[in-house]
Amino acid sequence: MAEFDVIIIGAGPGGYVGAIRAAQLGLKVACVEGRETLGGTCLNVGCIPSKAMLHATHMLHETHENFEKMGLMGAQPTVDWQKMQAYKADVVSGNTKGIEFLFKKNKVTWLKGWASIPAPGQVKVGDEVHTAKNIVIATGSEASTLPGVEIDETTVVTSTGALTLANPPKSMVVIGAGVIGLEMGSVYARLGTQVTVVEYLDAITPGMDAEVAKTFQRILTKQGLKFVLGAAVQSVTRTASGATVSYKLKKNDSEASLEAEIVLVATGRKPYTQGLGLEALGVEMGPRGTVKTDDHFRTNVPGLYAIGDAIAGPMLAHKAEDEGMAVAEILAGKHGHVNYGVIPGVIYTTPEVANVGQTEEQLKEEGRAYKVGKFPFMGNARAKAVFQAEGFVKLIADAQTDRILGCHIIGPAAGDLIHEVCVAMEFGASAQDLALTCHAHPTWSEAVREAALACGDGPIHA
Ligand code: NAI
Repeated sequence: MAEFDVIIIGAGPGGYVGAIRAAQLGLKVACVEGRETLGGTCLNVGCIPSKAMLHATHMLHETHENFEKMGLMGAQPTVDWQKMQAYKADVVSGNTKGIEFLFKKNKVTWLKGWASIPAPGQVKVGDEVHTAKNIVIATGSEASTLPGVEIDETTVVTSTGALTLANPPKSMVVIGAGVIGLEMGSVYARLGTQVTVVEYLDAITPGMDAEVAKTFQRILTKQGLKFVLGAAVQSVTRTASGATVSYKLKKNDSEASLEAEIVLVATGRKPYTQGLGLEALGVEMGPRGTVKTDDHFRTNVPGLYAIGDAIAGPMLAHKAEDEGMAVAEILAGKHGHVNYGVIPGVIYTTPEVANVGQTEEQLKEEGRAYKVGKFPFMGNARAKAVFQAEGFVKLIADAQTDRILGCHIIGPAAGDLIHEVCVAMEFGASAQDLALTCHAHPTWSEAVREAALACGDGPIHA
């Protein structure tokens, strides 16, 4: 008889959530994790520490930008980098310990070490081989760097090194205007670093609603970030004082370079499945190193499942969490399911940027008739009161049925506002449903309602 009903490999948001849900559903569960602490990339070196840094530097920025305007006078705070790092470490440790507590509470066994799968139904951790009816690969992803670019995590860094620099640098080149590049670029720009973002495409944040991307770039430029777009980075060379980034401009093939104290390579991530023994097991792989799965997270090997960044789809902690819950339910004989049409995306800069569902660009390509309701935060009393009136809410609905197809927000608390639209979309709501829902005044969420009104007879405050 197998020792466990399920062994989940990896304790990131996909793995730990799956382990807890499987245990809650009555299964005997183990979760393998080789890091000293639970929580994976997200809690240890990703979402959580970066949010601490974004929060601290946003506070600093507020003191410079807005305190005097509100009659708050006095000396400007200065940055104690070691203390800020300690604050960030405390936030991380509070969260990772929280997962350890939840494992104990739910009776999930933590197998400490790095796992491999010597045969179906077996997981080797250190010298011990454990058996399980089912195994779930939830091993996440790692930074995908540029060919020939050597990462040392002190001068040429990924997001991991960017969180623990010795000091805020004078200058930084960020390669890639994606989520990591813009969040970490914002952190350092607020600390006084000269940040230049070099991006291959002609716009920032690929795949995002074009109008939001344009507004976002304008706002970040005002905050001091510089952008070089349409530039393919060719090489990064270490120098005595930092590194040189050489790039080629796509429009005329001309070459140029930038020097900086620190170079952050933020050109995407790739699935991390090394050392598991997947090749020997004959596990079928998909594009870009992903593990191929069906719509029940099954690989081609019986009893072997995979979720999260290791499989296809957006590399987002909450997508992995949902898949963790779904796979646990499937293994417990229930009907686990993820609605990939309603997965929000958030960038935690100031202002925040959030989206769900389809963009205008996608709908045009599909040839689907749609209408747009847009409302600027300039018309929102709460946003104006707190100096956060930049940006807008853009709601997209089907031209005939009024069913909500997508929402794109740049503005205060966008990452929270987006969820009322997610719930509406899950219920198949129309823009009018949102427009008829009473929203408390004065709140930022009134801007979402006004965008919904803009899909119909028009907003009140614009
Ligand atoms: P990304 O895929 O978001 O952006 C990478 C950017 O690098 C792209 O715009 C790409 O065009 C550019 N690029 C690639 N090669 C280049 C070259 N040679 N020269 C210039 N530019 C080049 O990847 P990122 O920001 O590294 O994030 C990795 C993953 O982590 C993403 O899937 C992201 O969604 C996830 N993540 C999510 C967060 C959130 O939800 N707030 C926070 C951080 C990461």
